[in-house]
Amino acid sequence: MLNIAVLVSGGGTNLQAIIDAVENGEISNTRICGVISNNQNAYALERAKKHGIKSFCISPKSFLTRAEFNQSFLETVDMLEPDLIVLAGFLVVIPPEMTEKYRNRIINIHPSLIPSFCGTGYYGLKVHEAALSRGVKVVGATVHFVDEGTDTGPIILQKAVDVEQGDTPEVLQRRVMEKAEWKILPRAIDLIANGKVKVEDGKAVILQ
Ligand code: GRF
Repeated sequence: MLNIAVLVSGGGTNLQAIIDAVENGEISNTRICGVISNNQNAYALERAKKHGIKSFCISPKSFLTRAEFNQSFLETVDMLEPDLIVLAGFLVVIPPEMTEKYRNRIINIHPSLIPSFCGTGYYGLKVHEAALSRGVKVVGATVHFVDEGTDTGPIILQKAVDVEQGDTPEVLQRRVMEKAEWKILPRAIDLIANGKVKVEDGKAVILQ
């Protein structure tokens, strides 16, 4: 059984997709051992409570220094004893100690086809604004392992989504979530839970 800790900052629709997939069996062999938010108003916390999942809030704002936050954050994660940490719209930078300790055991969903529209400053609506202003015709989402860089770790799954005439960043964001994020994040967790993902030469390989 794969114990997963899900880290969130906002609405938690990706968290909901994971909860639903665990409950309906699309994700097998997996238990959500806790949800951690940096934002006490995140609706994601409500979603966790409704499903009887332990939830915690830990914000950098409650600490004098980043080092103190990082230490307490790592302790909170460790306490859950997760096999896998899932960043589902989590907007806090992962401390290097955590990346090191959980090497190839942290995954993130990013709302673009990496390496397009990723890295520092590309989060939330900004990603979709940039895609529209560049005029690309295909966008999408990526699930990847987290390393020391921003959106640089091994890519596990990607799914493309068409841009349509007249799209606004909000409309495009919603389509990318519905057609890509909510599908590939649960799928990636299921693959990992069933031993189907390994990292070789810095690249993730899906075993058949
Ligand atoms: C998603 O677009 C995710 O890719 C991004 O932040 C958003 C989170 O949405 N990193 P939600 O909180 O899962 O609804």
